[in-house]
This record gives sequence, C-alpha cells and structure tokens, in this order.
Amino acid sequence: MEPHIALLPSAGMGHLMPFLRLAAMLASRNCKVTLLTAQPTVSAAESNHLNSFFSVHPHIQRLDFHVVPLQTSNPHGDPFFLQFEAIIRSVHLLPPLLSSLSPPISALFLDIAAATCVDQLADHPSLSISYYILSTTSARFFSLLTHLPHLTLESSCENLKLHGLPSFSISNIPPPLFNPQNLFTTQLISNARAISRVKGVVSNTFHWFEAETIEALNSGKTSITLPQFLPIGPFKPYEDPGKCASLSWLDEQPAKSVVYVSFGSRTAMSKDQIKEIGEGLLKSKQKFLWVLKSVIVDKVEETELQELVGRSLLEKIEEKKQGIVVKEWVKQEEILTHHAIGGFFSHCGWNSAMEAAQRGVPMLAWTLNGDQRFNAEVVEKAGLGLWPKHWGWLGERLVKSEEIEEKIEELMQDHKFRSMAQKVGEEAKRAWEIGGTSEKVVGQIIEMLKL
Ligand code: UDX
Repeated sequence: MEPHIALLPSAGMGHLMPFLRLAAMLASRNCKVTLLTAQPTVSAAESNHLNSFFSVHPHIQRLDFHVVPLQTSNPHGDPFFLQFEAIIRSVHLLPPLLSSLSPPISALFLDIAAATCVDQLADHPSLSISYYILSTTSARFFSLLTHLPHLTLESSCENLKLHGLPSFSISNIPPPLFNPQNLFTTQLISNARAISRVKGVVSNTFHWFEAETIEALNSGKTSITLPQFLPIGPFKPYEDPGKCASLSWLDEQPAKSVVYVSFGSRTAMSKDQIKEIGEGLLKSKQKFLWVLKSVIVDKVEETELQELVGRSLLEKIEEKKQGIVVKEWVKQEEILTHHAIGGFFSHCGWNSAMEAAQRGVPMLAWTLNGDQRFNAEVVEKAGLGLWPKHWGWLGERLVKSEEIEEKIEELMQDHKFRSMAQKVGEEAKRAWEIGGTSEKVVGQIIEMLKL
C-alpha cells in the first residue's frame, strides 16, 4: 500500500518552497501526501503560492493547521521568527489532527526550524509514526547546528574544529550564536537537541556539491550520534501556472547578458545601501533585472520604491534602458532558467544557491544573515561564484557603488566563472540521472517510508 506522509513547513518562502518541492516529489513517487498549512500565513506571497500549488496538485491533500498567534510583544519581533514559535507552541494541537487522517499517516516531515516539535510529538500515545527533518539549509550549516547544544563559542578563536567534521571559520558564524541567551540561539539549540530523535534528515543538497561534509555527517565519526543524512537536491521545480511579467523584458535581451539581482524573499537594507547598489549596477554597464523587496516579502508600492531608491536614480535607470527594477514577487526559477541571465547577485539563501547551481548560473554572494556565509563558502569552494568577504554581513558597512561595479563586472565578464558554474550545473544534473547520487537516495527514502 502507498505510504501516507504528512509534511509541516515553517514560515517564510525560504522554508515553504522546499517543502512544496518535497511534497510534489513524494507524490510523484506514489506516496499519499498531506501538507499541513500553518494558518494564518505570514505573507500574501505564501498564501498565493499555496493556492496555486494546490490548484496544480489536486491529489495532494491540504490540511489547515490554525496556530495560536503569539503576542508581538516578543522582543524578537521578526514575524517569521514569531511564526516558528507559534508553530512550536501550537504543536499540542497536532496529535488529534494527525490521528484523524485516513489512511493513517506513517511519517511526518518537520522543518529544521521547528524540529523541537518532535520532542512533544514522539511520546504521544496516539501517534506511532516516524519523524523526518527537512533541512532547508546547506549541509555545512546543518553540521554546525547539530553540535550547538554542546558548544561554547568563543569569538577570539579563528577556527572551530568539531570532531569528525570539516573545520569552520569563526567569522562565518552568525553573530547571535555567540550569545546563548539570544532567542534565535535558544530556538536553534532546542531544535538541534531534537535531531537525534528523527529517522532521517532530508536535505536539498547533492553529494558532489558538499561531498566532504555529507560524508562526515554519515561517517558515524562525529562526536554526537546523528540520524542518516539524505541529500536529494537540487529539488525539481514544481509546476506553477502563469507567466512571470519580467520575462517579456528578458526575452528581448541577448544570451547571458543580464545580471539578476535579488536578496531573497525579504530584505531589510538601508536606503543608502540600495542607492549604492543602483549606482553600482549602472556604472557596471551590465544589463540588470533588480528585484527589490521591503522588509516583509511581497511587494513594494510605487511611492515606497521611489522613496527607497530615489526618484532620480529610478529615472536614470529608465532613461539608460540598461535594466529594470521589479517591485513584486517574481518567479525566480523561471528567471534563472532564462537564456538572457548570465549572473546572479544574491544574499546566498540556500534555495537561491541551489537554484543557481542547478542551472549553472554564476553567483556574486553578499551575505545578509543566518546560514548565508556557510552557504557562500560552499558556493565559492565549488566554483559557483565569487564572494567578497571584506563586504561583511549585508548592512555591516556601506558597500560603495564602485565596489559593486567592480564585482558585477568581474562576475559577468570573467569567463572562468561561467565555465566553472557550468560544471556545477552539469554535476547537479548528474545527481538526478538514473543511478545518480540524489536519485538513489530518493529511492532509499521511499523504501524507508514504506517500512
Ligand atoms: C531563508 C534564509 O534567509 C536562508 O538563508 C535560508 O537558507 C533559507 O531560508 P530566504 O532569505 O527567503 O530564505 O532566501 P532563499 O533561501 O534564497 O529562498 C527564497 C526562495 O523564494 C527561493 O526559492 C526563490 O526562488 C524564491 N523567490 C524569492 C521567488 O521565487 N521570488 C522572489 O521574488 C523572491
């Protein structure tokens, strides 16, 4: 009989999208799939995406999970962080919901950001199921997370060496992790504690891309016992109806002539920094498609855009016809697949890095927060792009337009990046051929789910 699997994503497009891809993949491999959708969603982008996903995947069951919203008096007022917490605190509502499903579910996939839910669910008498984690980050950052409960981080050291794992540079560790009282840190620690209770950790990465780390995680030689690490990336895009508006502009541009500029599903950047980026793009003389977001995801109103970028810069961009500024949600995967795209200036969120890897698009990485420096290390080491480390974390200092101009030119004109990125794209495809590393692991997961 086909196994019935439930999935519970966390908040934010960077977490929701890999879950939708995993749900589509499991459904295509003869699993019955129920996706629990935490309500209310944090953004309209999430709600729109869910609606369009279910419209093209009617065989995937949707089950709304009404979480108890937290009071925004939480000192860490980030809405995504609050939603992670809301999901974790509402987990007691899950057992009756999950046990009402028919046929009974045999496994639940949780986001690494809400892994601590396993602690509350695993001992529940009405649920006799297996648990899996979907890690929405690089294997490299995941490997750091696994050791967090046993670590005292000292910023005075240069490197961190954990038994059985490749070493980490201290300067790449997100600053909040040095403060064990920080709410973000305590949440990561409680999630990390739950990892040992799950049957497997599924990850959107592929063996060739992170071979050393993946082998270390599965070697049994780490100082803590870990479940099997199951790399099955790059995730295939799921069918998504409708065409992205910016594609008609791209259609008119020569092959590999455009740099795509986007810093993920939400980006809080100072107005001054936004202006430097705009000036830098213009000075580079490269064509560009620049997606601008305000703090919370979806779109920027015209007046807000003028306020952010400045009317004169917007006019200059329009006059020079060198690029376009998009103020709405775009279909990033379609853009990255377009023949006109020759480079990607990105914050190095893990989904963005994998989407670029899959298509062999070279990246210019400028890390914003969280796992992104670890991701950028992977990108740099694999030859997928360049990472000017001296720019620091995005927002740490004002990176001037001349610096941006220089790196954009390097990205778009130095052909070594293009050929190295192409090699990454070929390896990513190979992982999914019959007998490829990710294809084999998927087969293994399906067998595990049938047990
Ligand atoms: C977050 C974290 O910031 C990131 O570091 C972590 O690795 C995953 O969770 P986010 O910042 O949103 O993610 O970036 P990213 O991982 O790149 O995910 C964004 C997703 O939204 C990508 O799949 C991207 O294709 C999609 N996207 C983003 C769009 O389709 N359109 C947009 O306009 C913006």
